[in-house]
Amino acid sequence: MEFDLGLLLTVVGLSILGGFTFLFVLVGRDLAPAVSLAGPRRWLIVVGLGFGVIALSIKVVAIMLLSRMSLHPEMASLAPPEETAEILPVRFEALPRPAPLWKALPELAPAPADNPTTPAKVALGRALFFETALSLDGTMSCASCHDLARGGADAKPLSPGVGGSIGARNAPSVYNAAFQKRLFWDGRARSLEEQATGPILNPVEMAMPDAKSVEGRLRDIPAYAERFALAFGEGTISIERVAEAIAAFERTLITPDSAYDRFVRGDMNALNSRQLRGMTLFQEIGCIQCHSGPNLSGASLFAADENGLRIFPAVENDTLSHYPLREDKGAAAAGSERAIWRIPSLRNVALTGPYFHNGSVATLREAVRIMAASQRNVLLAEDHLAGRTIVWQPDDARLSVTDRAVLTENDIADIIAFLESLTSDSLKRATAGP
Ligand code: HEC
Ligand code: HEC
Repeated sequence: MEFDLGLLLTVVGLSILGGFTFLFVLVGRDLAPAVSLAGPRRWLIVVGLGFGVIALSIKVVAIMLLSRMSLHPEMASLAPPEETAEILPVRFEALPRPAPLWKALPELAPAPADNPTTPAKVALGRALFFETALSLDGTMSCASCHDLARGGADAKPLSPGVGGSIGARNAPSVYNAAFQKRLFWDGRARSLEEQATGPILNPVEMAMPDAKSVEGRLRDIPAYAERFALAFGEGTISIERVAEAIAAFERTLITPDSAYDRFVRGDMNALNSRQLRGMTLFQEIGCIQCHSGPNLSGASLFAADENGLRIFPAVENDTLSHYPLREDKGAAAAGSERAIWRIPSLRNVALTGPYFHNGSVATLREAVRIMAASQRNVLLAEDHLAGRTIVWQPDDARLSVTDRAVLTENDIADIIAFLESLTSDSLKRATAGP
């Protein structure tokens, strides 16, 4: 409470004035006639009684002041002397606005300056994407493993290539690959242009022996001369142009039409409460630390970090031991203790199982459990008792109650519901079939 000296003095002054008036009246009207006092004696009584009252008030005020000071010594010492008290200057400063945590997918994929996206190039790229003449035995096209009606992947753990030979890695979706800074599971390609000729010349995929034979195959099909001329100004067919046209087509394979995107763009009703809870968990557990940006992959074009590669598995745990996820070392040197992978996009992830670089995990539930345990060191529990979670530690046969982040089956179902909100409406319709 503030101590107002001016107010106090006013109150004291008014009381004295009032008190004396009262005294005069009392002494003049009642006391003096009763004891037959007159003249100076009457005044003496008034002054005597008056000073008694004033002395008492001064004592009361002094006691009040002294007790305040001893009860709140800091008040007495902190109050700055009048002449040095100065008003602090106020400066308004705008803090830099934090970057948004959640981002919607742009409606257009950015293209490099030396390969602008044009309708003629996209049309040529589409034809090449479905062209089986680009494989050694004429049976395979890009679409064989990247089925555009199945989320852009092939729903197989590993993809059979020419002659049935099987590669070592799962086919990722081609949808939204345009937003990745690093392509392939180990991030070895840095652009769609660089990536596109890989599978054509890969011995277990389309198995063409060299660039010359690819160009020869396309020259044998008359329609291509005109298509290349439309796309590139003149009709020379080269493997570089094949790659450029396919890359331009892939930049149109983007899916900004998901419930998640509608929510981030401002439609508050786009996600149901289960999906919102899953989205919150995804943020709170820290999945978003890696699966960030519009493509939910740190390797997106928008990532500040040029090097979008991560160690996986980061933490060993029981959930992992059921799957052969430690053999392939990805971008790390063979024989390294830990493997390094680029962060995959989670867009349309509900349509693109099986999961992980070797497709060894069949369900999204298992993929989420593995990620939570190995990348965020989160405990998996089936049981929540009044907010406390009991955890059995089999290694030392011990029970404990823990505060560590724990995911229940219900939490995992919520995260999956959120991941399903990343599925594009049009892809969902295409996958469901006519
Ligand atoms: C035999 C199956 C198969 C065929 C045919 C095939 N791919 Fe792939 N594709 C894969 C596999 C498997 C990977 C992952 C390989 C790796 O990471 O080492 C992949 C990776 C990719 C990626 C990288 C995606 C990402 O997110 O990193 C793109 C883009 C791609 N393929 C496009 C194409 C194009 C274009 C063609 C045709 C020229 C093609 N693929 C033909 C199986 C295939
Ligand atoms: C430290 C970085 C990091 C964190 C944190 C992280 N992930 Fe991942 N995630 C990865 C990497 C790297 C892969 C690819 C691993 C592989 O296939 O070898 C991956 C793969 C996945 C896949 C499989 C994708 C596919 O197409 O096969 C899913 C699903 C996934 N993560 C979900 C999650 C969820 C849910 C969380 C939070 C519980 C999470 N991730 C946390 C780095 C991370």
